[in-house]
Amino acid sequence: MGYQDQIDLSRVPKHIAVIMDGNGRWAKGFGKLRIFGHHNGVKSVREAVEAADDIGVKYITLYTFSAENWNRPKFEVSAIMELLVTALSREVAQMMKNNVKLSAIGDLDQLPPRCLKELDNAKEKTKDNTGITMTLAISYGSRREMTVAAKNIAQQVKDGKLNPEDITEEVFAQNLYTHDLPDPELLIRTSGEYRVSNYLLWQIAYAELYFTPKLWPDFRREDLFEAVLDYQKRERRFGKTSEQV
Ligand code: FPP
Repeated sequence: MGYQDQIDLSRVPKHIAVIMDGNGRWAKGFGKLRIFGHHNGVKSVREAVEAADDIGVKYITLYTFSAENWNRPKFEVSAIMELLVTALSREVAQMMKNNVKLSAIGDLDQLPPRCLKELDNAKEKTKDNTGITMTLAISYGSRREMTVAAKNIAQQVKDGKLNPEDITEEVFAQNLYTHDLPDPELLIRTSGEYRVSNYLLWQIAYAELYFTPKLWPDFRREDLFEAVLDYQKRERRFGKTSEQV
């Protein structure tokens, strides 16, 4: 029996977050440039999104480019931006066919205009799709996201629109880029690294963490299903005792 058949469809995470890691090492294994790995990572993105959608996951959020990734060699940064432009324009038809809604979070103003244009175009075209929402975290960093939220809240207080005593967790969450998304119940990271790397730090407070040694370009449908199965085997307690849940 394959992994997919073992999944309990009534207990599938609503939102899966993914740290797609290992593209560079994968390419190196073939004696190729790092960008070869990023190119091959696009197929994994497609498989992960389609597999998630097939089992009823409603949201998948992919760490596509971190705020820190701007510090990579110029050649690699521009090659990733170029890849985003081509992948977005090429994949839009597939997203329409699969009823996928595209979204993006991060400091998007930093993106080259062509990239931003392609992103806006794909978001606009897919905005009425009702299947899985695929969110790309681009130029994203969690600490920055929270700092921006704090600034917004401070401004609302300064403007007399909000009382400090009314600043609740919900108000804070409403000021994050992810205000439209439920918190992820499962975070997957590939490539055998055991870190969360400034990704969705507020949102993953109660997420189950799943690490696989697979490098991102090798990640396939079965790997997504395996991660969900592992998640289903765990007991989620949210701070309560076993007897209470
Ligand atoms: C991490 O591997 C991967 C990235 C920084 C880029 C991920 C981008 C893609 C897979 C393209 C996505 C395209 C769309 C349309 C969503 P790494 O370079 O850090 O690998 P390493 O750890 O082996 O160096």
